[in-house]
Amino acid sequence: MSTRVQWLGHSCLWIETDGLKLLVDPFLSGNPKAAADPDQLNPDYIFVSHGHGDHVGDTIMIAKKCGATVICNYEISQWLEERGVKAHGMQHGGGFGFPFGRVKLTLAFHGSALPDGSNGGNPCGFHWFFKDGAKVYDAADTGLFGDMALIGEEGVDLAFLPIGDNYTMGPDDALRAVRLIKPAAVVPIHYGTFGLIEQDAAEWARQVAARTASRPKVLQPGEWLDVRP
Ligand code: NI
Ligand code: MN
Repeated sequence: MSTRVQWLGHSCLWIETDGLKLLVDPFLSGNPKAAADPDQLNPDYIFVSHGHGDHVGDTIMIAKKCGATVICNYEISQWLEERGVKAHGMQHGGGFGFPFGRVKLTLAFHGSALPDGSNGGNPCGFHWFFKDGAKVYDAADTGLFGDMALIGEEGVDLAFLPIGDNYTMGPDDALRAVRLIKPAAVVPIHYGTFGLIEQDAAEWARQVAARTASRPKVLQPGEWLDVRP
């Protein structure tokens, strides 16, 4: 089965690839836009982009319940292991081959303090190279940076970019990010969850369609997308 992704609201993604289930930034409890019940999810791997509560979310509960391995930066992996969670620590620019394919940790410009104030290292994004050839980039929480062009050089079929502004890129910088990354398709995330990050995603998609060569797709929480339709 080819790789497909479901947006679960905010920055939370559910990815199915080659019979494996991946969960990204599982902020579901307390998320008014959550499209899944954390008690019902049974991922093989969980990805955590940084230490903030709206990304760590239900990671500990879900990982302990189903034995999933959490893939994240080294500092967060140590914090999770101290709490009884199986974790695989990495750092920026490093990649590793897992049963689902290869993942590389990308730069992200943001904070990463953990919910209890512990040092959560530096925030990251994820660039996956799945076994069916699908390449997916999740920028996670970040501002715009020019080296997004280097990520694009490796190929991106589908990019997830924050457009919420205030804490991350807003719509204008996310449009510039699309021009740097040149993904075949792009989905906006990290908006609309609460008042400070309300955005008009449909208008942003119109701008992407008019001013870039990428195909924008605005998902509703719970909606699926095939990476290579
Ligand atoms: Ni954050
Ligand atoms: Mn966030």
